[in-house]
Amino acid sequence: MENSTLLSLANNYGCPLYVYDAERIIFQYNRLTKAFAGNNPLQINYATKALSNISVLKLLKSLGSNLDCVSIGEVLLGLEAGFEPKRISYTPNGVSMKELEEVQHLGAKITIDNLYTLRLFAEKFPDASVSIRINPQIMAGGNEKISVGHVNSKFGILKQHMEEVHRIVEETGINIIGVHMHTGSDILDVDIFLKGSEVLMGIAKEFENLEFIDFGGGFKVPYKEGDKSTNIELFAEKFKLRFSEFCEEYGRNLIMVFEPGKFLVSECGYFLAKVNTIKPSTNIVFVALDTGFNHLIRPMYYNAYHNITNISKPEGKEKKYNIVGYICETDTFAQEREISEISAGDILCFHNAGAYCFSMASNYNSRYLPAEVLFYKGKDYLIREAETFKDILRNQTKIELPL
Ligand code: LLP
Repeated sequence: MENSTLLSLANNYGCPLYVYDAERIIFQYNRLTKAFAGNNPLQINYATKALSNISVLKLLKSLGSNLDCVSIGEVLLGLEAGFEPKRISYTPNGVSMKELEEVQHLGAKITIDNLYTLRLFAEKFPDASVSIRINPQIMAGGNEKISVGHVNSKFGILKQHMEEVHRIVEETGINIIGVHMHTGSDILDVDIFLKGSEVLMGIAKEFENLEFIDFGGGFKVPYKEGDKSTNIELFAEKFKLRFSEFCEEYGRNLIMVFEPGKFLVSECGYFLAKVNTIKPSTNIVFVALDTGFNHLIRPMYYNAYHNITNISKPEGKEKKYNIVGYICETDTFAQEREISEISAGDILCFHNAGAYCFSMASNYNSRYLPAEVLFYKGKDYLIREAETFKDILRNQTKIELPL
């Protein structure tokens, strides 16, 4: 998006502010479906957790996407956005039977990721059709926290435990209609992805009634200039060939499912924050913003890089700054970052602020969540109002203890 547009949105709505470019989401969705179009039916289950604003969900719905949800809250959001239950796939881990039952009654498609839950669920709902999450035992993903397909990760059923899955199927009659994996986020190495897929397809052969294979998400997007990203077109070419070969061996066409989050919504997002204070220290200048890790935690939590630009003065001479927040502990967004000269009152823009930014925000320090704006063809739509003090108090009860 143009700096001038972002600047006028910041001025109109106030900072901090999340802005999402709908056209970018549409572009990425079309790019993905075009790349994977072929002999086998394709289904995209957008990973709701990445950016779960209901208007964004509605946009993805109208593009033809289904949803991947990991909590009852996300399932209900999906229904509220107008998705039919069968277009919602629920792939939680470690959840209670109570939540699973609720989702089963709502009619969403369930994926179960451990033997204990599979047995309990199968005994309760022997007529159900579910899919199972497999742990393919590969190391994929950008960092330790988001690499979730390896043998020591908590996710998925190991291939060593497949005998027990078959026993549960035999004893209860539950129907396995899909196998699923999700191995990590920021996966650059497509060969690793393909390796995981081979494990998944190997296991898929053991089940006769499959309707789909879900390969999860994790495609890497660029976060800075020159950054590497998954070459989706190249990957899709390789993948489609292998998948249709597999379907021939399997004896029928299965649906190929992917669950991208970052690929669809990372680059559409801009987070705008105002400079409160400039504070020179011994050898660096601190720039303190009217935000902190309460609104964007990825730099602190994953050491993630977000490009930051000064949209008030994009052409200024570059200087080095430490960009920090207003939180009561160290919350550094960027260290010794070269940005065009900053003054108090300038608006800084964080790029790639679509995926896992607002959705990971909190009320830490009793700060309010910011507003979200969706921008489409020159028009802006407020899709979430900024919180106020009322929202901090909501659900709290003021009691006096009888001391
Ligand atoms: N499917 C499942 C079951 C997942 O758990 C995830 C992400 C996805 C799909 C989508 O992955 P994506 O395409 O967005 O990489 N908060 C971290 C990312 C955590 C992802 C967790 N699961 C971050 O900000 O980097």
